[in-house]
Amino acid sequence: MQNKIIVAGIGPGNEDFITPAALKKIRAAKFLVGGRRALKDFSSAKQIICAITGDLDASLNFIREKILLGEVVVMVSGDPGYYSLLDLLRKNFPPTQIEVIPSISAMQLAFAKISLPWHDATLASFHGRQPAREVLRFSTGKILGLLTDAEFNSASISKLLVDECGWQKNSVVTICAKLSYPDEKISTVTLDEAANSEPIKHCILIVREAE
Ligand SMILES: C[S@@+](CC[C@H](N)C(=O)[O-])C[C@H]1O[C@@H](n2cnc3c(N)ncnc32)[C@H](O)[C@@H]1O
Repeated sequence: MQNKIIVAGIGPGNEDFITPAALKKIRAAKFLVGGRRALKDFSSAKQIICAITGDLDASLNFIREKILLGEVVVMVSGDPGYYSLLDLLRKNFPPTQIEVIPSISAMQLAFAKISLPWHDATLASFHGRQPAREVLRFSTGKILGLLTDAEFNSASISKLLVDECGWQKNSVVTICAKLSYPDEKISTVTLDEAANSEPIKHCILIVREAE
């Protein structure tokens, strides 16, 4: 029987938001892969670990080698089904060998923080990619939920929405940074204010019309 690769979502960061199912698998893992911060928070000395860095081939090679010996647990932030290493794992291993433990996405937590349902929101990612402008284009009642990165951050995205996608300068953006961490910061400003303020890099933006 093939050993499984368990892709465990760890939620937005704080242990309070990880599911008991994921935590049980992570604690029991002999072979554990994850970002440096996740390894610091969740690994123990008895585990054989591999830090995910820019060199993704190194992580894949670790998994290829260790999967012959036993189950490998891969920790990913938020929910594995929403912009994570899961895509790359599916390209390199048979999907039947992969088991996913879902978790709370940073996107879900951002909407929860402002008590706004997300079922009608248009979700898109600027994390290492760019959504089609059509997806972002303003229409009455539209709500955008956006992942960001260092280049496409709170300032550059706010400018782009006004300049290229028909949003008004006084539309509202909630910037959610470091969600679930002790230094979590959530602020609501206009797109114009966000475009002209210090950029906040890795965060969630929730954009909607001015009330
Ligand atoms: C590669 S995506 C991972 C998304 C993840 N799978 C999820 O479901 O939350 C990374 C982006 O998610 C967002 N993100 C992840 N954790 C966050 C947090 N704790 N606070 C705010 N944004 C976060 C940022 O936009 C970051 O650049």
